[in-house]
Amino acid sequence: MQPFKYHVLACDQHKPDGVPCCAARGSAAVLEALRREIGAAGLNDTVQLTTTSSMGLCERGPNLVVYPDGTWYSGVTPADVPEIVREHFGGGRPVARLAATDEAAVKAEIQSNRAKYLASLKAREAAGVVPDELMDMIRGYQESRIMLTAVELDVFTAIASGATAAEEAKRCRTERRATELLLNALVALGVVQLQGETYRNSPLAARFLVANSPDDARTALRHNLSLWATWSSLTEAVREGHVALRAEMHERDDDWTVPFIAAMHRGAAARAPSVVAAVGAGSLKRMLDVGGGSGAYAIAFAQANPELKAVVLDLPTVLPITEGHIEEAGLSKRVTTLAGDLRTNDLGKSYDLIFLSSICHMLGPEGNRDLLARATRALAPGGRVVIQDFILEPDRTRPRQAVLFALNMLVGTEAGSTYTEEEYASWLTAAGLGAVRRIRLPGPADLMVGVRL
Ligand SMILES: C[S@@+](CC[C@H](N)C(=O)[O-])C[C@H]1O[C@@H](n2cnc3c(N)ncnc32)[C@H](O)[C@@H]1O
Repeated sequence: MQPFKYHVLACDQHKPDGVPCCAARGSAAVLEALRREIGAAGLNDTVQLTTTSSMGLCERGPNLVVYPDGTWYSGVTPADVPEIVREHFGGGRPVARLAATDEAAVKAEIQSNRAKYLASLKAREAAGVVPDELMDMIRGYQESRIMLTAVELDVFTAIASGATAAEEAKRCRTERRATELLLNALVALGVVQLQGETYRNSPLAARFLVANSPDDARTALRHNLSLWATWSSLTEAVREGHVALRAEMHERDDDWTVPFIAAMHRGAAARAPSVVAAVGAGSLKRMLDVGGGSGAYAIAFAQANPELKAVVLDLPTVLPITEGHIEEAGLSKRVTTLAGDLRTNDLGKSYDLIFLSSICHMLGPEGNRDLLARATRALAPGGRVVIQDFILEPDRTRPRQAVLFALNMLVGTEAGSTYTEEEYASWLTAAGLGAVRRIRLPGPADLMVGVRL
């Protein structure tokens, strides 16, 4: 079977520092160039590009193997890629100057490298060296903290048009030598590039981490600075079952709230179309978006149905942000806001839809039973409660994001957690709702629906 004319296997293996590998020798830039050039040449349907781990020629990477002809290219640079794409994939002529010709020599080199590699593994094993996968988990905070500090200092904006370490330090009002260390670490992480003495953003950093870039995510990403602080109390939380000094949501200032709602908004705006499609907006007349945050979901429902009137209930500290989004969408007449406390407020009456997105994980089981009972009372006959949240598998150890999020709630809320489908179904049923079901959506969260029959 040969669904594509060429199948290119491109090694992108990462090995520990100091061990030769394609990643250390620049495979990421080669892959980027391959994707770009193959697309630009209109060969996406001719060439299938697959990244792989080692091909056994690590000291001479980046390596590519092209099938069906079995051409082995080694030491490929981004500058070689246009020629490979044009001549080989476009013209059927492998690039002789880069291709290996001595099959026996290649095989012998791979066998010798494999023997060396296995011997080094055996030696590490015998010496009781802590394996990389364990060390990577233990030291993961380093990469995270480097990125958080760079976002906090707005380093990527300051090098948007290129800067030396001294220029960068001046722009960020930071100490020069320390700034250079940080910039060098960002180069090592692959988000900044160094040409001569000038630091520049990688395409990824330029797209997401620079002021006024089209996908500027800095405000939303700053929420992780708040989370860094709360996660630092994990040990205490596990010992005590809760965190002693935790500010309630309504006590949190703009430094906390603005990035939090921005982070929620980015996720919500991306997911809203699939949520609206799954729930259906057509028959709705009144919806209540409980803890609606930026209002992204209420806005999306109102955009899908011009008859719909939506209310977003949230904290008074959040609603000015919500109102800004509603105004921007031109929906101030049909989407209104209501300041309140979702933990205690009567939720009103006669809604066809009460939407609870990323709310139930903030509460404990008791809080959820109570909230869903109040939500049920606020429904018109035939109305629905729709919950969107992470849903745990019954053994509570999968999916990974939902499991880790339970700890995010342990350190950030009084009683919040993540829950199983069975728990949600039992709470919805206990609240008096019927036709309870789960709707699976792409991404990390699903919907749970109950109907007031
Ligand atoms: C995780 S966010 C979810 C936002 C939105 N539903 C979404 O999915 O994008 C939780 C929301 O609940 C709001 N919230 C938290 N505690 C609240 C309370 N006691 N009363 C009202 N709203 C609250 C927060 O301000 C925030 O907007």
